[in-house]
Amino acid sequence: MFGRDAPHSIIDTHCHIIPGVDDGSRSMQETLKMLTIASDEGISDMIATPHYKRDHRNISTAGISEKLEQISELEKEIGLNVKLHAGEEIYYFSDLSEALRNGQVATMPDGGHVLIEFSPMENYIVIRNAMDGILSSGYTPILAHIERYECIVRDDDAAFDLKNMGVEVQVNASSITGAAGAAAKRFTAGLLRNRLIDFIGTDSHGARERTPEIRKCAKLIYKKCDREYADSILFGRAYEELLAYKALTR
Ligand SMILES: [Fe+2]
Repeated sequence: MFGRDAPHSIIDTHCHIIPGVDDGSRSMQETLKMLTIASDEGISDMIATPHYKRDHRNISTAGISEKLEQISELEKEIGLNVKLHAGEEIYYFSDLSEALRNGQVATMPDGGHVLIEFSPMENYIVIRNAMDGILSSGYTPILAHIERYECIVRDDDAAFDLKNMGVEVQVNASSITGAAGAAAKRFTAGLLRNRLIDFIGTDSHGARERTPEIRKCAKLIYKKCDREYADSILFGRAYEELLAYKALTR
């Protein structure tokens, strides 16, 4: 999609591709179907981000890597080549910084970014303070699907405020295309106009519904934004920051 010599194409920064660990893929068969769809959509890399909720049964960080290795082996057998990377979507809890330090929860693959979600009805002050705490402990929070939080959608300044603090912003592909509703489309169009988005993810959960579709979203982004910004949010920044490409080649 992005030239014959490109080392990668779109990077999906948020998906529930690991079977049987959350409300995402229910079986290895479904995972392989999701990967087939992702590959057809032009995705070269996926960061698997299973849900982590404190006091729930969660997959361990070692378990995430083991599962991804198993999936990659099966991918090879059927001729698929979507590269998988380990991450986690963490539902915010108060002693998260300590859990990050002791490896109880997973960061994004670079070790420095953390994908965080809240209740869609959460109060803005709670979100802001939580982000502030994560930043103070030396991690960079990525707010998962920012378009879902009512307090941010209703407040014209909130997204700017978070970005000024150093929070990074992830948006779901289905919100940009309108598949997640007109309100999400309108809000994310504003984010694109103001260049407030850092990463795009499919937040895919299955092979039938909430699938890893991104091609239509990518086309829209290239239509609405300049090429440099579109490249950066669809793969460039994920490649350099979340997959720590620069660090690996230093
Ligand atoms: Fe998610």
